[in-house]
Amino acid sequence: MCGIIGYIGNENASELVFKGLKRLEYRGYDSWGIAIKNGNEIFSKKCVGAIGDAEYTFPKSMVAIAHTRWATHGNVSEINAHPHFCCKKHIAVVHNGIIENYHELRKELEEKGHEFLSDTDTEVIAHLLEEFLEKGYNLEKALKETVKKLEGSYAILVIHKDDHAIYFAKKDSPLCIGIADHGFFVASDPVAFIDHTNNIIFLEDYEIGYVNTHPKIFDIHGKEKYRKPIKVDWKLEQAEKNGYEYYMEKEIFEQKETIIRAVSHEKEKIEKITKLIDNAFGVFFIGSGSSYYACLVSSYIFSKIAKKHVNVVDASEFGYYKHFLTPRTLIVAVSQSGETADVLDAVKKAKEKHAKILAITNVISSTLARISDYLLPMQAGPEICVVSTKTFTSQLALLTLLAYTLAGKYNEGKEKIIEAAKAIETILSPENKKSIEELAKKLKDKEHIFCLGRGVSYALALEAALKIKEVTYIHAEGFSGGFLKHGTIALIEKDTPCIVFAPKDETYKEIISNAQEVKARGAFVIGVSPENNKVFDYWIKVPNLKEATAIANIIPIQYLAYQIAKLKGYNPDRPRNLAKSVTVK
Ligand code: M6R
Repeated sequence: MCGIIGYIGNENASELVFKGLKRLEYRGYDSWGIAIKNGNEIFSKKCVGAIGDAEYTFPKSMVAIAHTRWATHGNVSEINAHPHFCCKKHIAVVHNGIIENYHELRKELEEKGHEFLSDTDTEVIAHLLEEFLEKGYNLEKALKETVKKLEGSYAILVIHKDDHAIYFAKKDSPLCIGIADHGFFVASDPVAFIDHTNNIIFLEDYEIGYVNTHPKIFDIHGKEKYRKPIKVDWKLEQAEKNGYEYYMEKEIFEQKETIIRAVSHEKEKIEKITKLIDNAFGVFFIGSGSSYYACLVSSYIFSKIAKKHVNVVDASEFGYYKHFLTPRTLIVAVSQSGETADVLDAVKKAKEKHAKILAITNVISSTLARISDYLLPMQAGPEICVVSTKTFTSQLALLTLLAYTLAGKYNEGKEKIIEAAKAIETILSPENKKSIEELAKKLKDKEHIFCLGRGVSYALALEAALKIKEVTYIHAEGFSGGFLKHGTIALIEKDTPCIVFAPKDETYKEIISNAQEVKARGAFVIGVSPENNKVFDYWIKVPNLKEATAIANIIPIQYLAYQIAKLKGYNPDRPRNLAKSVTVK
């Protein structure tokens, strides 16, 4: 849930690490800190809040580590911000993950006289290292013994005041080494150093080691491992705003290209994957948050187009289904980051039952990509805004194409998706943008917004509500049109905004009746539809895309949420309490 970065080399480590940390802010931004080897001392600085555009001048150094935090253990405060230190401040540690047995470890260490300053789980790592160093171990061995005692997940970086090296260890949290011509980076995500190198080693679980003049990687038993770096084809421009005010805006507008890129795989590859779906004995689509909603939307498309039933399960609930799994089950794990703990945990459980795993992810170097049997990349390029926009529609595009291909209609599927991508020009035309901006003004002070849809638009209503909640902090809920009258209608009163997805498909008549039901109770009805209807108080015009409707119809609501957030003075790229990849369960 946090971002970590370290650098050792010939350039100024403090500057490089601080710059890289700013690019990791999407992983957590409630506080940050840096530790710099300054002669034979450790200089440190910690701050509450996001780094934002802050500039600091730190001592020049060849070795530094840094951390941007999304709090798990201990409130948001300077003292709980990383780095954490041993009693003598000889060792500095930054950590992403959760040490589940930290209570017991802390108690043991306190009994031995260690003094703790913070409420974090991480601090035990620094004191354990100190304990082993005092026994006469070198830092490499001390780290090996320390990680043997840790339960939970960790990506750890360690520096010592007298050691010209950065030590690292990894389990269940991402960590990679960037090999530049002037030194080495170790970070949660290559985005942190992609302007220096795309030559990268992605570390595996239980690997530990250090970088000084070269990287040394060992397994948990101390056996050296030789890992070949791979080239990652991400470019810096993809991770920059390129003139847009916020990443969210840039990523909303990018969708006309990313949707097409998502389905630009070779036809044979798509056919091979659909065969897996066809031959499986039980197919489970799993994901979290928006990725889960993309699975849910797609399940309707699979049913309608491919006449295939797929199970859709929220990844965090999937473990309870493991009793149904067999070696013939196929799990389609959908995750932008490929690092979501709930998804990885579900996949591990499925693998224990020898089920096959197909990963649909945007990060081909992610843990999910590496532990799966088959991989279908989304090819959306880095998504920096914490909320998903372009990767949601990429997931929908890919899953839609799979459904069409399964029905033997690959070409038709591809045409529909290209049509949906082209429709974005109209949806986000200057005239339509202006109309959505006007609507944003009307909605910005509302307490509640409800979103309604049926069929393929049901999960779209859920996703629309999630987008609104995430960036505007307005309470929003999504419902199926039919469910509303079973209770929620009690919440509708005069001027309650209700966004109604009304595509011209088999749901049209019924969803319009549902719109009438809320209107009769005073609701302000916003129709997202190709056709105006007298029940709408506000009409968001969208093209009639038939089965590809869902891909395009979410886009005006993404833009609406973005506009409301801006009007309210919120930063849509960094919503409060959220992090881009949720690497804790
Ligand atoms: O990286 P993933 O797709 O696995 O992430 C899943 C969710 O955490 C993510 O979709 C989350 O709900 C976003 N905040 C949605 O905007």
